[in-house]
Amino acid sequence: MEMKETVLFYCKKIKDIPDFIPAERRIIVLADFKVESALKRVLHFPFITIESSEENKCFRTLEELTLKLMDLGADRGTLLLVAGGGIVGDIGGFLASTYYRGIDYCLIPTTLLSQVDASIGGKTAINVKGFKNILGLFNPSNFTIFCSEFLDTLPRKQIDEGLAEMLKTFLLADKVAYLDAVDVIIGGSPHLKKISTFSELFPFIKRASEIKSDIVKRDPYEKGERKLLNLGHTFGHAIEKLCGLSHGEAVSIGIALSANLSVKLRLLSKSDGNKIIRDLKSLGLPAESPVHPSELFETMTKDKKKDGEAIQFILLEGIGKAIIYPLTIERLKGLLNDLS
Ligand SMILES: NC(=O)c1ccc[n+]([C@@H]2O[C@H](COP(=O)([O-])OP(=O)(O)OC[C@H]3O[C@@H](n4cnc5c(N)ncnc54)[C@H](O)[C@@H]3O)[C@@H](O)[C@H]2O)c1
Repeated sequence: MEMKETVLFYCKKIKDIPDFIPAERRIIVLADFKVESALKRVLHFPFITIESSEENKCFRTLEELTLKLMDLGADRGTLLLVAGGGIVGDIGGFLASTYYRGIDYCLIPTTLLSQVDASIGGKTAINVKGFKNILGLFNPSNFTIFCSEFLDTLPRKQIDEGLAEMLKTFLLADKVAYLDAVDVIIGGSPHLKKISTFSELFPFIKRASEIKSDIVKRDPYEKGERKLLNLGHTFGHAIEKLCGLSHGEAVSIGIALSANLSVKLRLLSKSDGNKIIRDLKSLGLPAESPVHPSELFETMTKDKKKDGEAIQFILLEGIGKAIIYPLTIERLKGLLNDLS
């Protein structure tokens, strides 16, 4: 089935967001309470506010939001503006995709992670009894507005969550963007020497969102090329689960381990492998696994990327060039034992 294409808009200031909103539509805003006041200054529509947490990304919230939409008289012609990080985006997208069997919606991602990753590609989801993203559907927003001013209120930790995903996107598809981003951001982390405000990340957000958007256009249902976006995630998911690290931290370590594995398989030069790990560390991101890679084996082989007797690993042939590399469970076990 063809997937609809999202139109992407970019602006630097929150005050410019209304320029992209169609005047003739009936509009309701669903917003993370942390961006509510900034948005209320420029968007004069009914608001529903939500506190973002994984616990709230659930059926109960979906039911409450549905009732609020009904109270506000939302009908099939309503356009829902969904503003917040990945949590509000996922549940808001799910809500819009199912309310009256689907109404139009626009995403306004307000965290770095949601701007470079979660808001692109049409994945919507809720959690059920602690199982993350277990219910969901593919339904891209009609349009998405990226506004870098939101980043200025984000805590540093939240920036790091997005940085790992942004670097991942460049590593798999765009060497020049990777080298530029590292060069510009490195001075900014952890001492923020070069980057005075996080919104200076804007050109990189634009590039990362375009890369992901192009990949998703070519492979909307993750049958092939879209799997490349899982670089670092097979290791990352296992680390997140076993070591209790955040998703961004785990992905950063996952990227480092994928680089090491790529070097070990002679796909990637040792100097590029070392550079990637050095860069992650210089950016203040973790690059070393708290447990030996062999301890990740059990969890990794249960991962959903398992395909028969092989796991489809995403590995690097160079900076800016990723490949899908199937590894049998037996071979993986041997490789992990020798990996540092
Ligand atoms: N749909 C996808 O393709 C996709 C991809 C990756 C992740 N995700 C999902 O995204 C979620 C994580 O997203 P996230 O990291 O954006 O987390 P989040 O939505 O919880 O936001 C993180 C925190 O930042 C706050 N916040 C949001 N915008 C802010 C702003 N401008 N200033 C200050 N604080 C702000 C939020 O209230 C929250 O406390 C997970 O549930 C994950 O499953 C979805």
